[in-house]
Amino acid sequence: MDLDFRYKELLEVIDSFKPFDADIALILGSGLGEFADEVNTVKTIATNALPDYPHSTVQGHKGFIHWAEHKGKRVIIFQGRIHFYEGYKIHETVLPVLIAKRNKSKYLLLTNAAGGINNLFKPADLMLINSINAIAIKKELTNLLGIASLEQKNNMLDFPSDYLMRIIKDAAGKEKIELKEGVYYFSKGPSYETPSEIKMMAKTGSDAVGMSTAHEALFAVANGIQTAGISCITNLAAGISKVKLSHHEVMETAGIVKEKFERLVKRTIELI
Ligand code: HPA
Repeated sequence: MDLDFRYKELLEVIDSFKPFDADIALILGSGLGEFADEVNTVKTIATNALPDYPHSTVQGHKGFIHWAEHKGKRVIIFQGRIHFYEGYKIHETVLPVLIAKRNKSKYLLLTNAAGGINNLFKPADLMLINSINAIAIKKELTNLLGIASLEQKNNMLDFPSDYLMRIIKDAAGKEKIELKEGVYYFSKGPSYETPSEIKMMAKTGSDAVGMSTAHEALFAVANGIQTAGISCITNLAAGISKVKLSHHEVMETAGIVKEKFERLVKRTIELI
């Protein structure tokens, strides 16, 4: 599908609204949306003002796109993302990346809330994603990109960007933030996993599980955008945790980790 054609009208609205192109794009995950208050926002558009833009139905996900500056760096920030589990089509879920590309972003930083599978992880840890297990969504991703493009150079091997990994680790070191590293397992949702599913994911070498990021990452690398991802471990995954999982717990932990997360992202932007 030619998304530039499909979203022609929307992209033209973006073109006429944007105050500048932004080298860096940032997608904020569940409960992490307040980062947008941490930078100098130059212009903001509500996504419901954009023709054809889907509306997030998840609590903790606002629908705004900000053009912002931080220490001389220009950033386009997506406050609120579009999830596959909300029933949207794969081409709809990658719209923020399409808009980032239109803004000539060279770098994309994906953030999300995730459940910890690795038993060394605890809630409020931050994990740098070193690989994504996207098996659950391969068919849709293949349809989106076309089989030819997958067979050629554009595949998940370009994720994560070595450059961004180095920058994020450097930022964590400078901010004295302990950064875990691991594999993100994409789960289709919408319900949280069962303990048995988590055992299976653990056997595949996965360290954290979440319901976003995979499609955005693959679409971004297919479009030549250097991409990396940071997971905020908001809870221990089903079966590992003794307590029943809830969106409330996810939001509560995201609130606790907020300060650490914001420092890491700000420093990363400065170092890019
Ligand atoms: N599973 C899936 N998605 C999540 C979780 C989880 O445990 N926590 C936050 N997002």
